[in-house]
Amino acid sequence: MSLIILKIGGSVITEKSSISRAKDAEIDRISNEIVSFKKDSDSQLILVHGAGSFGHPQAMKYRLNEGFDAKGAYLTHVSVKELNSKVLESLNNAGAHALPVHPLSSCLLENGKIIDFQVGHIKVMIEKGIIPVLHGDVVMDRIKGALVLSGDRIIPHLAIALNASQIGAGSDVDGVLDNNDAVIKKITQYSFVDMRKNIKGSGSTDVTGGMLGKVSELLELANKGISSRIFNASRKGVVSRFLYGEDVGTLISDK
Ligand SMILES: Nc1ncnc2c1ncn2[C@@H]1O[C@H](COP(=O)(O)OP(=O)(O)O)[C@@H](O)[C@H]1O
Ligand SMILES: [Mg+2]
Repeated sequence: MSLIILKIGGSVITEKSSISRAKDAEIDRISNEIVSFKKDSDSQLILVHGAGSFGHPQAMKYRLNEGFDAKGAYLTHVSVKELNSKVLESLNNAGAHALPVHPLSSCLLENGKIIDFQVGHIKVMIEKGIIPVLHGDVVMDRIKGALVLSGDRIIPHLAIALNASQIGAGSDVDGVLDNNDAVIKKITQYSFVDMRKNIKGSGSTDVTGGMLGKVSELLELANKGISSRIFNASRKGVVSRFLYGEDVGTLISDK
């Protein structure tokens, strides 16, 4: 059975310029697009969401990527869990069965690199038709103590571990844009060499690399033979179109 991994950016479901403010109507709209698709299809689905204003301002305040801070790790995790609960409530209210999976409890880093990611429970969830909902989180690191692990870095890891066939990252832009703000239809490791100068970090508070971080992660995945898409989840209907396999946004591919 085919597995879809959908990431929804924090820029889509939170007010990124505020602190801990969710866009409830957007969360509900996306839940409805997911539930309508699920009724139609027997594909398995994993949802990963970004932390947005529930994680980035907190991680900056406690400088989580500069040095270990136990209080900052706790407060940031509590905050992203609050957003995760909102997403879960919305999905379950819309008629899906969804359960939380917190990377803090499933994942271990060493110098920022993922060295362990438990997926046994995620496998059971998807086999039972449940949508596991992961998120950008604070994660323990054997060398650094604790670091921020972005939703963008979780997707390639899960895609390989669970052999996903369709991977998408929904953000607040129509795709990866060129220097004329036109959507780039396809990026490969070869075209990236020229395009890289036009791809930057985030326009808002984002401690995990913005668009450049996203493209870099997904190119690494493409080089392992798994292609993915970056599209605009803030536009009504685009998440649905991605789920149905349409050609939305930018394709990140190995050739
Ligand atoms: N070439 C580019 N194409 C599209 N977006 C870009 C580009 N360069 C920088 N960006 C910025 O990256 C942002 C998306 O990254 P980010 O804010 O981290 O979103 P998300 O919340 O989805 O992770 C866009 O809103 C835009 O401000
Ligand atoms: Mg981001």
